[in-house]
Amino acid sequence: MKIKNKSFKVLIDEHTLQDKIASLAHKINKDYKDKRPLFIGILNGSFMFVADIMKTVNIESEISFIKLASYTEMSSSGNVRELIGLSENLFNRHVVVLEDIIDSGLTISSVLEELKERGAASVEIATMLLKPEALKVDLAIKYVGFEITNEFVVGFGLDYDGIGRNTRAIYQLKH
Ligand code: IMP
Ligand code: MG
Repeated sequence: MKIKNKSFKVLIDEHTLQDKIASLAHKINKDYKDKRPLFIGILNGSFMFVADIMKTVNIESEISFIKLASYTEMSSSGNVRELIGLSENLFNRHVVVLEDIIDSGLTISSVLEELKERGAASVEIATMLLKPEALKVDLAIKYVGFEITNEFVVGFGLDYDGIGRNTRAIYQLKH
């Protein structure tokens, strides 16, 4: 597959991916029975993962989405990301954050902080992909689909410069 002059090869095929997503959902069904969890998907990248995991989640639950708006403040050098789109009351709720990929872990840890501040009873993470070598923060991740090497990937929701989200497999950059 080619995107903007870059070549990608299949890393995880559709069948392997779907098997893993179903097994994550089975674990969640067991762990969250009678807890009425609130799933929170992080847009845009997680949309396919969320859709497929929810086809196998069969316990009473709710699903919502958030987005992280990126903007750089004139006065500070850091990149501030504001969490938008969350209208649910999180007080005493069991939250499961659904993410496409955890790289440095900085995105997800800022999300966790904010969700905990809103009074959630528990906040856990389910990520389809994890790059352990890239991780910069100490994170307890309850559900991981696949651990992958520190290589750029696209497909199944993940993009390269906005392109490539619409595939059934996950592809890795070819050198
Ligand atoms: P982190 O804050 O470094 O963990 O980055 C997480 C976010 O970066 C993900 O939600 C993705 O949007 C993006 N990202 C990280 N690695 C990749 C990749 O290999 N392909 C596409 N997007 C990525
Ligand atoms: Mg993302």
